[in-house]
Amino acid sequence: MTETALSLRGVSKFYGSGERRVLALRDASVEIATGELLGIIGPSGSGKTTFLMLAGLVEPPTQGEIWFLGRKVADPRTRSGELRKLRGRHIGFVFQKANLLPFLTAAENVQVASAAVGRGGSDARRRACELLEELGLAHRLDAYPQTLSGGEQQRVALARAIANRPTLLLADEPTAALDSDRRGQVMGLLSGLARDEGVTVCVVTHDVRAISFFDKIVEISDGEIAGTPAPPPASRDGEPLSHRPSE
Ligand SMILES: Nc1ncnc2c1ncn2[C@@H]1O[C@H](COP(=O)(O)OP(=O)(O)O)[C@@H](O)[C@H]1O
Ligand SMILES: [Mg+2]
Repeated sequence: MTETALSLRGVSKFYGSGERRVLALRDASVEIATGELLGIIGPSGSGKTTFLMLAGLVEPPTQGEIWFLGRKVADPRTRSGELRKLRGRHIGFVFQKANLLPFLTAAENVQVASAAVGRGGSDARRRACELLEELGLAHRLDAYPQTLSGGEQQRVALARAIANRPTLLLADEPTAALDSDRRGQVMGLLSGLARDEGVTVCVVTHDVRAISFFDKIVEISDGEIAGTPAPPPASRDGEPLSHRPSE
């Protein structure tokens, strides 16, 4: 039987107050199994990033509850300090913007994630280099962020999010700035994490070619879950995207 890793139960999120109150997500209920690769799709402004912020315990919901690893971890009364602690221990997050530290190299940006949880030194360096190499950045280990392309920065941010072996990994449009080969590489890495290491992975994407990698898809429209369309049967066959016939 598959275990539920994360469960959003009737969650809503409003931003602002009074006349400026914006409903970003309404009454969303989603269960995500351990080791599942979940895709979140929908038009711009529909609430995808908001969904990820709640799922990643970056923000508490305005209504509803979030359950993680079998216990309730957030409701409207949860303070952000409590969320931060849980997040640090279990969750890797790749934001839409890479947010790399400009005065550290690519490899150092990945290593600081390990240093933050007390795992520094040569092991952290080795892991950083392995991850960056796997993401096609072997030649850019010592490059500073401002000399990297948008897609390269995104891949460094992804390596940083994975460095501490999170239980749950959330990525906001991680393939947006990538060409098709790189896209395949990133999606291949994410599906490998889910399939081989049991990491629960949620990916927001606009990219129709990424869809065949997902185990489950949640479609968001106007702040509401519009459906969970079934992914195409080619899911997770390990084929790079570039070798697939285009749709
Ligand atoms: N911090 C915020 N303050 C006010 N409104 C926000 C904020 N973040 C998002 N919104 C609004 O919430 C809605 C959903 O946004 P978002 O989750 O970013 O959508 P998506 O990621 O699908 O483009 C949009 O109308 C957006 O303008
Ligand atoms: Mg977004």
